[in-house]
Amino acid sequence: MLKLVVLISGTGSNLKALIDACQDETYPASIVAVGADVDAPGLRHATSAGIPVFIVHPQDHESRDEWGRHLAQRIQEHGIGIGTTPGLIVSAGLMRILPESFVQTFSPHIINTHPALLPKYPGAHAVRDALADSATTTGVTVHVIDAGVDTGPVLRQASLTIYAHENEADLHNRIKELERPLLVDTVRDIALGRIDLTDPQLGSPAHPIRQEQPANGSAE
Ligand code: GRF
Repeated sequence: MLKLVVLISGTGSNLKALIDACQDETYPASIVAVGADVDAPGLRHATSAGIPVFIVHPQDHESRDEWGRHLAQRIQEHGIGIGTTPGLIVSAGLMRILPESFVQTFSPHIINTHPALLPKYPGAHAVRDALADSATTTGVTVHVIDAGVDTGPVLRQASLTIYAHENEADLHNRIKELERPLLVDTVRDIALGRIDLTDPQLGSPAHPIRQEQPANGSAE
């Protein structure tokens, strides 16, 4: 059973999808704690499922590194990132860049979900950036977190067609409909060893990215 700590900042719909998946006894992962950098509304999904939650506010710390050290400590208290079974950190809507020292502590057992087809549109405004770029296609990427911003090896992607005149909120909602099952499937594949996060070839051409295809086979 793969142990997870999920990190969020917002409404936590991806977190909720993971909680629901973990409630199925055949799902090979379980969430041991949920952390946030703010009093995120999504934390209620964890508390109502009886999962411990913690908040580490950046403003309570002198520097980003200090914040990261404290966050790492809270995660390690749940047995993640230590010993021979390091578990997995899932950044599911954590809207803050993790300090490099934090990433090094847990690497490569730390993944993120991002609402664009990386390497396109990294950063905090991926959906807005795709619209501003008049893109006709975008999607979602689950990737390993490395020292850069949304630059780590891509594990899974799913794409959709952007509708004419679609606004940011509607597009983001449609992306999230793809994102939730993609995240659940990727975590399952990591737990089952179908994805080996320690494989140095991860993200290289030797490891083609699996593009999820919608059931009807079209781009939408
Ligand atoms: C997701 O689209 C995630 O990729 C982005 O923020 C959104 C979080 O959504 N970074 P939710 O809080 O899981 O509903």
